[in-house]
Amino acid sequence: MKVKEMTFEFPEKPYKADYKIILGETLENLHKIEDEKFDLVITSPPYNVGKEYETKKSIESYLLEQERVIEELIRVTSSKGNICWQVGNYVEKGEIFPLDIFYYPIFKKHNLKLRNRIVWHFGHGLHASNRFSGRYETILWFSKTNDYIFNLDDVRVPSQYPGKRHFKGLKKGELSGNPKGKNPADVWEILIKDWENELWDIPNVKSNHPEKTEHPCQYPIELVERCVLALTNEGSWVLDPFAGVGSTMIASIKNNRNVIGIEKEKKYVDITKQRIDKLFKGKLKIRPITQPIHKPSPNDKVAIFPQEWLSLKFNGNNK
Ligand SMILES: C[S@@+](CC[C@H](N)C(=O)[O-])C[C@H]1O[C@@H](n2cnc3c(N)ncnc32)[C@H](O)[C@@H]1O
Repeated sequence: MKVKEMTFEFPEKPYKADYKIILGETLENLHKIEDEKFDLVITSPPYNVGKEYETKKSIESYLLEQERVIEELIRVTSSKGNICWQVGNYVEKGEIFPLDIFYYPIFKKHNLKLRNRIVWHFGHGLHASNRFSGRYETILWFSKTNDYIFNLDDVRVPSQYPGKRHFKGLKKGELSGNPKGKNPADVWEILIKDWENELWDIPNVKSNHPEKTEHPCQYPIELVERCVLALTNEGSWVLDPFAGVGSTMIASIKNNRNVIGIEKEKKYVDITKQRIDKLFKGKLKIRPITQPIHKPSPNDKVAIFPQEWLSLKFNGNNK
């Protein structure tokens, strides 16, 4: 397949970031990129679940194909660089295959080091009837070496109990926390008051989310921003080899990181272009990184147990 390359330039550049969107096949284009260019590779690869942009194949041939891509990604990652691989489940005849379990040995075989298996929890989604409803996906964060970029202070969240003090030992009476906030941990659940709840709950990008485009499985800009801020420095290069509608690109540009995205579907590349354009014009709808998730108050209509169900006795709601 002939690869068409496009670089979009926009008149105003309020951010200090270079960026390039490549319309084409991931592997073919990775071959053209120099070694160790990127401090962060972050992506949500195709899950092989038969979305409109993928042809479903056996899990074995899917993983073999992905391993070729991963080898190239490791080559283009800098020695201080990191790779974040965001995946959910592959489903076959109702049986689920958690993709991170299948991917882990591939990265390990190539000497990458797992730093966190981050659980991205979201409150909404399809209601399953033959198993418990799925409410999380994961991000495998690997570093290429033991000397890797990690800016914890840039992503700390305020502590729930900043006034807590050591109650015994040499430090008795001294404040035990960090005035910069606490480590956000590996379950990301930005709740209303993530500053109070200590969890990061980043809503899944579904139809009522401000960032939603026509892409069937976008991830939230906010999710990428955490990784961009923690795992790169200003001026670093970031790569998303399966860029979709450019969520990684936006998260990177917004934080003055240079970025390349590769995507084979022109319609998604076009949306990326529009989103970046809007970002530069200050018109892109983004769910801000610290915005609370809406929780219904007990008096909201949707939170009140409906009249029609009052006479029913089931476990779920009306115990
Ligand atoms: C899970 S989606 C990524 C969505 C993205 N994270 C976002 O927020 O928009 C995977 C993307 O990879 C693209 N893709 C799949 N196989 C590809 C390949 N071989 N080369 C280039 N892009 C590919 C698909 O078209 C799809 O948009």
